Amino acid sequence: MGIMTIRIAPSILSADFCNLERDLDAIATADLVHVDVMDHHFVPNLTLGEPVVGRICQVTSLPVDVHLMIEDPDRWAPEYARLGAASVSFHMGATHAPVRLARQLHDMGCKACFAVRPAEPVEPIFDILDEFDMVLVMTVEPGFGGQKFLSNQMGKVRRLRDEITRRGLTTSIQVDGGVGPSTAATVAGAGADVLVAGSAVYGAQDRAKAIADIRSAAQKAFRA
Ligand code: DX5
Ligand code: ZN
Repeated sequence: MGIMTIRIAPSILSADFCNLERDLDAIATADLVHVDVMDHHFVPNLTLGEPVVGRICQVTSLPVDVHLMIEDPDRWAPEYARLGAASVSFHMGATHAPVRLARQLHDMGCKACFAVRPAEPVEPIFDILDEFDMVLVMTVEPGFGGQKFLSNQMGKVRRLRDEITRRGLTTSIQVDGGVGPSTAATVAGAGADVLVAGSAVYGAQDRAKAIADIRSAAQKAFRA
């Protein structure tokens, strides 16, 4: 497999929605910006959709990583690719034809990521793993920022990393929920290489320092 590098993806769910441009500028040292789209149906929260994501894609120089926590991503995910998302994540529990959707996103120049909730197993993805650029392992129940990290998801991350390594794939593993300087070593040690952090970045006075702290803790621990 290729050399993997740790990437940090601050989640703007914990940013100030009335000062998004300012809060996007504050994370310029990150690798991606993670944008959580929620629809009040797939999860019990409602955030933002196409008009706001379109503007985010226009004003940030970071690649935009859209995390769809919505029903019918088969219908809506391509809209986010069209708006300029670099990657789109869609959930196992919501997607009817993940392979077809991933191929459609790829045709539009967008990366495809398959997401699993804490109670969903990752093994069903193994047979279609080569269709995806990234797998998102949720380390909280999706819906809200600031929840406690679920360390019981680390077995899933390890099994996934073992499978990726065994097959020589370059698939990234993203972890999302409760990730910060104190949990970064745990997730990277299990084999995750893309770390989403919402409250740990935007809850800090110095966002660049929070990003740097998460990055250095993860880099020391990363298991390829
Ligand atoms: C939760 C979202 C996360 C959220 C993480 O459903 O998918 O991206 O912003 O927030 P923290 O890092 O505060 O747990
Ligand atoms: Zn997310």
